Amino acid sequence: MSLLILAIETSCDDTSASVLKDAQVLSNVISTQHIHKYYGGIVPELASRSQLEMIDIIVNDALTASAAELKDIDIFASTKGPGLIGSLLVGLNYTKTLSLVFNKKFYGINHIEGHLYSSFIGKENPEFPFISLIVSGGHTLLFLVKDYFEYVLLGQTQDDACGEAFDKVGKLLGFDYPAGQQIDTLSKSGNENFYKFPNSNIKSNKYDFSFSGIKTSVLYFLRRNYPDFINTKDSSVIPLEDICASFQKAVISDLITRVISAAEEYDVKTISVSGGVSQNSKLREELKKYESEKLKVLFPEAAYTTDNAAMIGYTAYLKDKFKGYDENSLYQPAFPKFVSL
Ligand code: KG4
Ligand code: ZN
Repeated sequence: MSLLILAIETSCDDTSASVLKDAQVLSNVISTQHIHKYYGGIVPELASRSQLEMIDIIVNDALTASAAELKDIDIFASTKGPGLIGSLLVGLNYTKTLSLVFNKKFYGINHIEGHLYSSFIGKENPEFPFISLIVSGGHTLLFLVKDYFEYVLLGQTQDDACGEAFDKVGKLLGFDYPAGQQIDTLSKSGNENFYKFPNSNIKSNKYDFSFSGIKTSVLYFLRRNYPDFINTKDSSVIPLEDICASFQKAVISDLITRVISAAEEYDVKTISVSGGVSQNSKLREELKKYESEKLKVLFPEAAYTTDNAAMIGYTAYLKDKFKGYDENSLYQPAFPKFVSL
């Protein structure tokens, strides 16, 4: 018998609701807040206030688009962390309340786990072990996934997250927040060999990342070569596309080096890349070159790359199917299980 799942994701600035029939996504509605671009980053209080206003509308939209009613839902799921506390509370309490009112199961889902499985939505279930790279505005994590919900953390960023580096460099260049997509688009008409920005170099762990150095080197490069731009922010005085492409090349080659090295070391047949930065066209193009009969490279569909409730619902579906329901689910933290090699 198939199960209907209603999932909600409110961990950061977006408000999203999704209805799934088992693994199949019937609707995935996302309301994005634009106000934060005037502040150059997320303002938590504004985010949660807007989510409180939007949540009924978005849930209704998701139910209508999937021709479902609340009384038909078998499983309620919501992001339980990590994220902004005010934002998380909106979605979490909304969903928990519905599960209590309708006396149905509730799954609190870890946001990172949601991103991790998002590349499998609409495809076959995962084959283990696989390498998972999660690159978003808040996270840069490299996992060896041994089995459902068993993760070995191989590496992570030591400072800025990958998406954060795109956003901070975008800010230096005068772009609105978030800047990843704009850098990606402009890079297409730029020369990526225009300037060599440094790759990260972490001696203690070959799978760790560092992105704060590259942001500083873009700043110094601009100060040294284009002092007028620093004062005026007039981008017509700089080779904007070339700078974007060169920056992007340095970041993407960093990601690819580590992912491929981990795939070889742990002899996996699948690489999965997810999170907001997985939308990057250069990353997709370059990593797909490594695909072979022995190695699959998976990216989420565009709608599941940035924060979305479908990935939360899909992870709840996997939990229900492969782990089973725990009656204490309402009261448990959503920490994923880290295992050793
Ligand atoms: O996963 P996400 O929606 O939010 C977090 O959980 O953090 O990711 C948002 C991040 C932002 O930093 C944004 O600049 C970046 O993903 N991003 C991109 C692209 N599209 C979004 N970065 C590089 N290239 C893109 N095409
Ligand atoms: Zn996210």
